[in-house]
Amino acid sequence: MIAASLIQIAVIGAGLIGPRHASHVLNNSHAGLFAIVDPSPTAKDIASSLGTKYFTSIKHMIAYCDQNGLQYPDGAIICTPNHTHIKVSAELASYGIHLLVEKPLSSIPEEAKALKNFAKEKNVKVLVGHHRRFNPFIVEAKRNLHKVGEVIAIQGTWALRKPESYFKMSPWRQDNKTGGGVLLINLVHDIDLLQYLFGPIERIYAELLKKQRTNMPNADEGAALTIRFKNGITGTFICSDNVTSPFNFESGTGENPTVPFQDQLEGFYRVFGSQGTLSVPDMHLFHQPDAVDENTNSWLHPIEKEQLVDDRLETLHSQMPFDLQLDHFIDVIKGRAEPLCTSDDGMSALLCIDAVMKSVESGIPQYVEDIKNIKPNYEALGLDSETVRLTK
Ligand SMILES: NC(=O)c1ccc[n+]([C@@H]2O[C@H](COP(=O)([O-])OP(=O)(O)OC[C@H]3O[C@@H](n4cnc5c(N)ncnc54)[C@H](O)[C@@H]3O)[C@@H](O)[C@H]2O)c1
Repeated sequence: MIAASLIQIAVIGAGLIGPRHASHVLNNSHAGLFAIVDPSPTAKDIASSLGTKYFTSIKHMIAYCDQNGLQYPDGAIICTPNHTHIKVSAELASYGIHLLVEKPLSSIPEEAKALKNFAKEKNVKVLVGHHRRFNPFIVEAKRNLHKVGEVIAIQGTWALRKPESYFKMSPWRQDNKTGGGVLLINLVHDIDLLQYLFGPIERIYAELLKKQRTNMPNADEGAALTIRFKNGITGTFICSDNVTSPFNFESGTGENPTVPFQDQLEGFYRVFGSQGTLSVPDMHLFHQPDAVDENTNSWLHPIEKEQLVDDRLETLHSQMPFDLQLDHFIDVIKGRAEPLCTSDDGMSALLCIDAVMKSVESGIPQYVEDIKNIKPNYEALGLDSETVRLTK
């Protein structure tokens, strides 16, 4: 029996990630799993194994609440394919249900802007599911960043190989138009982290990586990027879902049960500063703490390798950022916190991916569009014209 004071959360979409979110909800002592919503025939069994209600659509969930005099769920976690996030979120928001929208917020910035405005109109909070902001390795990296002095440059990698079955089981992943491809599915995570750690990105140049999957012509397999942040920091990043490599966030932190933890992986991110270099996830700081002049702070002097967060590193990889994100979502719903990752943050990451795509098409660097220049596409919300009129 669910206690009345629990925050009731529905999980929308029960594919790869939905059931994971649902089990975190079940394990949270402040939350109740209200229902699973998914039209797929397999979802009913998933709901039953989680001991929760099952609906094939949001409309049916709402009708069930109305018929039984139940309050609508307080919040929902949207785990549907990327190109469906906006319609699904807008429908939930129209009933005042707060949103934790899986990344990317949308695959189209104009649609994301419409959702942002509509949610504001309805007093609905939007938390974007860039959960890695809650990952202890990122929390520690952010906390220790000042130890490199002034950040000058960064280098990052997200590289691994996804199996064919990953694409076959969810065809939307095979086409950039439906939010597929590694740039929108995965690079967007790293872009969000880079902006979280180093501030807004101003300009990006990107080259697509060589394609190897001949049966999937419409999904990119990654890109090599040069990045310039507004504050003058510059960097490079390689993203690929089709090479043999452990240099990626999941392998290095062990946060995803699907991807084996690669013990003692060094440097999927490197932060180069005026006084040192920080390597993540190993949390090594390379520096010259006894430097006293320009010679001892140069290549003439040995560099020390210091292990930061030494005694806690062993346990960091087992901590669950999804739990922390859920705790935060509950606080947001209760009005105790503002979203750590806002719809503007989600949109900003999306606009960076947009700049990557435009750079690939044009062959030249692209400035990241300012959110304020994005014209909302209210039709994409899929709501009746009166509701949309009020938002405009
Ligand atoms: N944060 C992370 O680390 C992480 C990891 C994986 C996926 N994701 C994101 O989560 C989302 C889902 O990804 P996935 O890999 O689980 O996809 P998936 O294809 O495995 O599952 C999507 C599910 O949504 C259902 N669905 C489609 N339209 C729906 C609708 N209108 N209402 C209800 N259900 C609907 C489908 O039937 C399917 O079961 C994507 O946005 C993806 O980018 C995030």
